[in-house]
Amino acid sequence: MGKEIVVQPVTRIEGHAKVTIQLDDAGNVSDAKVQAVELRGFEKFCIGRPVEELPRIVTSICGLCQWSHHLASAKACDAVFGVEIPPAAKKLRELANSIAFTEEHILHFYFLAGADFMMGPDADYSFRNVIGIAGKVPDLAKKVVRCRHLGARMLEILSGKSIHPVAAVPGGFSKPLRPQERDEIKSMANEVLEFAKFSIDFAKKEVFPKYLDAFDTLAVIKTGFLGTVKEDGALDLYDGILRMMSPDGVFEDFRYDQYTDYIAEHIEPWTYLKFPYMKKAGGFSMDLNDPKGVYRTNTLARLNVCDGLATPLAQKEFEEFRKTFGRPVQNTLLYHWARLIELLYNAENVVRLLDDPEIMSTEIWKKVEPRAGRGVGCVEAPRGTLIHDYETDANGMVTNVNLIAGTTHNNAAINMSVKRAAIDNIKEGKYDQGILNKVEMAIRAYDPCMSCATH
Ligand code: MG
Ligand code: NI
Repeated sequence: MGKEIVVQPVTRIEGHAKVTIQLDDAGNVSDAKVQAVELRGFEKFCIGRPVEELPRIVTSICGLCQWSHHLASAKACDAVFGVEIPPAAKKLRELANSIAFTEEHILHFYFLAGADFMMGPDADYSFRNVIGIAGKVPDLAKKVVRCRHLGARMLEILSGKSIHPVAAVPGGFSKPLRPQERDEIKSMANEVLEFAKFSIDFAKKEVFPKYLDAFDTLAVIKTGFLGTVKEDGALDLYDGILRMMSPDGVFEDFRYDQYTDYIAEHIEPWTYLKFPYMKKAGGFSMDLNDPKGVYRTNTLARLNVCDGLATPLAQKEFEEFRKTFGRPVQNTLLYHWARLIELLYNAENVVRLLDDPEIMSTEIWKKVEPRAGRGVGCVEAPRGTLIHDYETDANGMVTNVNLIAGTTHNNAAINMSVKRAAIDNIKEGKYDQGILNKVEMAIRAYDPCMSCATH
């Protein structure tokens, strides 16, 4: 009987996960699994509620991804009620989404993943953490905390409260943006934009050059990709069409409500997390040598599927990224680089939206009537494509719910990446803290949120 290595809890991710690595008699990796050890179950206890309550209920799924659930849910309700919301409401929701993205991407790059890069993957775990970062680069750490605070403050001004938002409602948005509020948010947004510009410069000069080798070798797998684009193929994080790309870069676009034609969900008995896969692949396998149906979402996936970004500075970074790494990029650690390009895109997008006079309109809501129906709402969340699918009876009461969160789409890829990293780094029974941390880095690249992902 070989040995079993257990990493639990996996640290610096959102939620709870456990890694189990099986070694054979020679001490080489025979299998590795990432298990979600928590069950949230919102698909079941949303049933029987009036559908218009769901945008408020689902914010409790997660302390970080609440805006994503809030917006996907409001969009699913719009679809159930068959209402096209006013343009200003759409812009206010997109603004909230982009602000939330800046907060989350800053948190992940500096505080969740940052220690692996700034202290090094082999650094002792007693300071390979957020406290270590605060000690090593105190001014930078303060700036990170300040930008997180600004994000929360902007969302509070925009929507009345910074956590558990209630502002997006079926039919639109419940609170118009007043001129004074717009000006207040704008000065904060400009500060976050400056930090986003600094972040990608800093990473490209001080951080990434040291890890070019790791980008090419750690946890590299070959999969398909999923993300949202506008009609013209540009990245869109709030609204658009879904684009699914095969591992070789061939893609197909489809509407949200067609997702069940393209995505099926596989179940394994050893984890609460499902394994969505590309239906058209004709089956599902996580075999590293011959995977089937596996696709990825989140930052790298979005940059792979899109044809460009609609803001100038991010577009420039995107062009350089694509020229350097090609399309589709399969190197797992490049999720981090893609994340910083998205940070810049969102920071620019916040300023762009605030400069749009239409966002100040007070026409932000359309009346809705309950009816029997089905509605699929989807947004890109910081952690990947988020699908909310609701069915209601004639009184507007919920009869069925399906949720697929960003991390759920990435489940198969996370398992494959961990197995790849374990096989490549653990040989003849030899491993240490640094090697096990590299296995965890394969997970962190995806910025998973386990709390969001099991229902
Ligand atoms: Mg589901
Ligand atoms: Ni979450």
